[in-house]
Amino acid sequence: MGITRPSAELNKCDLGGHDMTQLIPVQENTGGNSNGPVGEHAARSLSYCEQLEEGNILFFARSPIAIPESDREFLLSQRQSGAAYHKNIAYRPQEDRVSGLVKRSAGDQERLRTILRNYSKQVTQFIGGLLPSYACAAHVDFASFRPQEERGRPARLNARNDLLHVDAFPTRPTYGDRTLRFFTNINPTEPRVWLTSETFEGLAQRFAGPHATPGLFPTPAKGASPLNSVGKSLRRWARAVGLPVRPASPFDDFMRRFHNFLKQNSEFQATCPKTRWEFPPNSSWIVLTDAVSHAVLSGQFALEQTFLIPRSVLVLPEKAPINILERLCGRPLTDNGTVINRS
Ligand code: SIN
Ligand code: FE
Repeated sequence: MGITRPSAELNKCDLGGHDMTQLIPVQENTGGNSNGPVGEHAARSLSYCEQLEEGNILFFARSPIAIPESDREFLLSQRQSGAAYHKNIAYRPQEDRVSGLVKRSAGDQERLRTILRNYSKQVTQFIGGLLPSYACAAHVDFASFRPQEERGRPARLNARNDLLHVDAFPTRPTYGDRTLRFFTNINPTEPRVWLTSETFEGLAQRFAGPHATPGLFPTPAKGASPLNSVGKSLRRWARAVGLPVRPASPFDDFMRRFHNFLKQNSEFQATCPKTRWEFPPNSSWIVLTDAVSHAVLSGQFALEQTFLIPRSVLVLPEKAPINILERLCGRPLTDNGTVINRS
């Protein structure tokens, strides 16, 4: 039970003196519903939150999520033909809807929806047991199925996931909430291979101090939001089809620019310290991807569920990107305290 030392099967290298992401193996497959004193579970759960907020990855060598063999076989038979640029198949739990599918029969679409709905529900329940303080306030965001081989996948530079980055979604501003993601490698034989580098705090201090990189913190014109062009067109489109659009906060604008800046920075990509992780078949891992710089080098067939965690429930709020950035630039970057109704 609980946190143990990293296992030898995972290849870790080049730590240097930097604040690098560590892997924390967890032997707890019940999400906290197991026997044992309640206080012990609460303490363990708190330590898991701390590990995540420090920028570490919780790793489950055997996934706690049960996927029936027939569902797994169905997922492994799926190909996104002609969709080299269409990254993933997304499932929206709030609408019970799948998007991003290419050329599927109605029967296959329905089957995929059922499998992703089950995955989303199971992960949400598991997180509810493992990290109850997060779960009671979390927004259950999209889940995804990733059927493409990651090695050599063609993509626009800013959409490439084989380059180190921290996550920022152009269409889903978080207003300072944290991005927690639960991954499962369903490939029966091949690992999913990631790189991680320094965590957000070090990267922000290096690149985003007030004078470090001109343009990362542009002064917004009064009432205007300095969105990038993709963000702008998506928002124009959303307005045009009548969707309610809340302006992205300066925090979200920064995170988007920082995501692109890191991917475009070839010197950073080549010279930063790196740790390589191999997530074996049938393993799961949990990570706050807004602060853990990461890249996926290879692997095919993964499932993933994203949660947004409000800052009010964080154990180490000073480690949250929003607070790090507000300290760095000395002004609020969201309309702090506003309650967001996402559903
Ligand atoms: C990413 O968020 O960069 C993708 C990670 C993955 O698909 O393994
Ligand atoms: Fe990412």
